[in-house]
Amino acid sequence: MPPARVPVLGDLLRLRSNLLNAIQHAAASGGEVSRFTVGPKNLIFVNRSAAADVVLSDIHTFGKPGAENPLRLVLGDGLISNPNHDVWLQRRRSLQPMYGRASLASMHQRMAGVIGEHVGRWQQNDRTDLVVYEDMMAFALDSVSRCMFSRSGDTVAAVFTPARVSLLLDFVQRRLRGPFSLPVGVPTRRNRDFASTLSALDELVYRFIAERRETGAPHDDLLDMLLEVRVGEAADRLTDLEVRDEVLTTFAAAYETTASALTWTLYLLACYPDIQQRAREQARTAAGARDRGPLYGAYLECVMYESMRLFPPSPTIPRQTKKDALIGSAEAPAGSLVMLNVAAIHRDPAVWALPDAFIPERFLDGVPGKAKFLPFGAGAHMCIGKGFALMEMGMLLAEMLDKFEISLRDATGPDPRALITLRPRDGFELTLTRI
Ligand code: HEM
Repeated sequence: MPPARVPVLGDLLRLRSNLLNAIQHAAASGGEVSRFTVGPKNLIFVNRSAAADVVLSDIHTFGKPGAENPLRLVLGDGLISNPNHDVWLQRRRSLQPMYGRASLASMHQRMAGVIGEHVGRWQQNDRTDLVVYEDMMAFALDSVSRCMFSRSGDTVAAVFTPARVSLLLDFVQRRLRGPFSLPVGVPTRRNRDFASTLSALDELVYRFIAERRETGAPHDDLLDMLLEVRVGEAADRLTDLEVRDEVLTTFAAAYETTASALTWTLYLLACYPDIQQRAREQARTAAGARDRGPLYGAYLECVMYESMRLFPPSPTIPRQTKKDALIGSAEAPAGSLVMLNVAAIHRDPAVWALPDAFIPERFLDGVPGKAKFLPFGAGAHMCIGKGFALMEMGMLLAEMLDKFEISLRDATGPDPRALITLRPRDGFELTLTRI
């Protein structure tokens, strides 16, 4: 059956108002893929895992969005937005050790320090109300700042404020979804705000790079590793601009996604006290059984996976067709923007029994392959920071479960609002009660 085509204006309004509506609409259409036409842009949503597998298995036909990708305005040619396959591949190989076993072991200590500070603050009172998403953003920022720059989040948070991050994300989103955009050089109010926000972040990052190059003192953090990376046959070091692009890419990749995953996981733990108790007991047993290493149990990992299945922090993953292609029986002309509809794939009733229910046990036997479960993507571009994210989230959740009962502050749950990440609407709170 040919995929349904919906009118241009309707698509535009739907995409503008809420990406989540578009995701749900695409899934409800029942097709493997659904098409939207936004001005001159051809947008294809891939709603089923078999079709997503076709896309993810062929990175030459379905590559990252090209040079016009608006993310490049912020992240330059870092790993996420680099439009050149060969350059990306070389860079990816060189950066892999930053996220490997040895590096994670050294990040473990830093994360434990950040977790101790945040949990310690929440422990000062018998009961603490968390404005969950804000608190998790502050935690994730602190954690990535400490791992990247050996600085606390305070120094960085004064510059990387949630308002600034949101402004940049909104700017990129508008350009991704809108049919026509004025060049960034045109001095509209929005363009000027964007430019001044970005230059504040750049100023901080270049200052840190310059200080580090000047003193040469070792810090054993991610910035040290970036400055030491050797790329390609000539084993060149990265330039300041390339280091800046990878620093901003890491912040962009690590900050909101982690905060979003933690927020939804805490929400689900609060909704299901039995699961919370089981996760607490298993995490305590795991912590007792090991002298060092990750301090969370296998069950907690299932809880995190199940939370990311229901609320994937990146609800869509973008690709662009580099030549005319077929996705199943659907034609995808060269240049089409292809969105893997992760949110729909994760609730496909043909794959998941009781797809809307929260059942962490479904992951006890492992994670299903063939593009059925994609919180971190799959294939060559799969999230390079997956181990980093799981360790960080597992350690924080295990510590919170050990110290607090987590409960809903009121009956109204958070309402998901998808930008690039799936974040809840403002102000959603949970209560921590000291155990
Ligand atoms: C819960 C947390 C996280 C989630 C859900 C997540 C998810 C993702 C997804 C869906 C992709 C795109 C994969 C694709 O295009 O096929 C991605 C890529 C990436 N992620 Fe993550 N991520 C998380 C945390 C992190 C962290 C903590 C870091 C770094 C410290 C990181 C660094 C990256 C990078 C550099 C890429 C680009 C990889 C490439 O194209 O080669 N992510 N992530």
